[in-house]
Parts: sequence; structure tokens; C-alpha cells
Amino acid sequence: MENGTLRRNIFQRILGICATKEPTDDGCWTYENGIVTVDLSRAPELFIQNGAIRLEKKDNLPERLLVFKSDDGQYHALRNQCAHAKRRLDPVPGAQQVQCCSVGKSSFDYEGKVISGTAGGDARTYPVVLENNKLVITL
Ligand code: FES
Repeated sequence: MENGTLRRNIFQRILGICATKEPTDDGCWTYENGIVTVDLSRAPELFIQNGAIRLEKKDNLPERLLVFKSDDGQYHALRNQCAHAKRRLDPVPGAQQVQCCSVGKSSFDYEGKVISGTAGGDARTYPVVLENNKLVITL
């Protein structure tokens, strides 16, 4: 597996400013009874490979989520929290990894297994099913 690094400047890394934004259409997703549903027709960020959104602070979602489309066109969902100091994660194009936005740059594979960096544990992943142009993520 190729080891990659997301291009972020030192200030972004010190401050923990991730590359992934919240969706432009906040109505593209809901959370209810342990299920996150993302309507792809309202989430243009996920049309493209390595496109990503972060979901947080709505519908009593119990934890932050990173949702992205990988290089191979598959969708993935991870708890958006590095195991080191809880900073957010971003996908790394071309590397089949996600990487912490902090100076430590901990990296994880798509199964959440830590590959490098200071994270002392893996990142939690969730199953994603595509149904009728909606992503169904079971927490
Ligand atoms: S918070 Fe991720 S490496 Fe420190």
C-alpha cells in the first residue's frame, strides 16, 4: 500500500483544521435510531472520487462521522476521531488511507487499522450500504 500525506500547512496541522468540510446542503443527511442516511442526490461532494463530507452536531448524532468515496468508487464511513488526541480525519487521494489533520499525521487504512503516526489505536469504521441513491450507515 502506498503511503501518502495530505498536503496541509503547519498552521492547519497545529490548529487541527481538517480538509473535509461539512456538507453544503445540511439537509442531505439524517440520523435516527442508529442509522445515518445520506441522500446522494443532495450531496454533490460525494459524486467524485475522494470526495468527502463530515457529519456532526445534528439529530443527536452520537459521534462525528467522516463519509467519503474512495479511489475505487466505494463509500466508507469512519468515526471522525483520531485515536491519539481526537482530531478529525481526511481521506488521502491515491493512498487508500485516511489521515489525521494534526501534526502527528496518524494514518489509517479503510478498515480503520492504524498504519503510521502516534495514534495508539485503530479508527472505528461503520458499514455503508447504497440503496436507491442513498447511503445507509449503521452505527
Ligand atoms: S490527534 Fe491524530 S495524530 Fe495526534
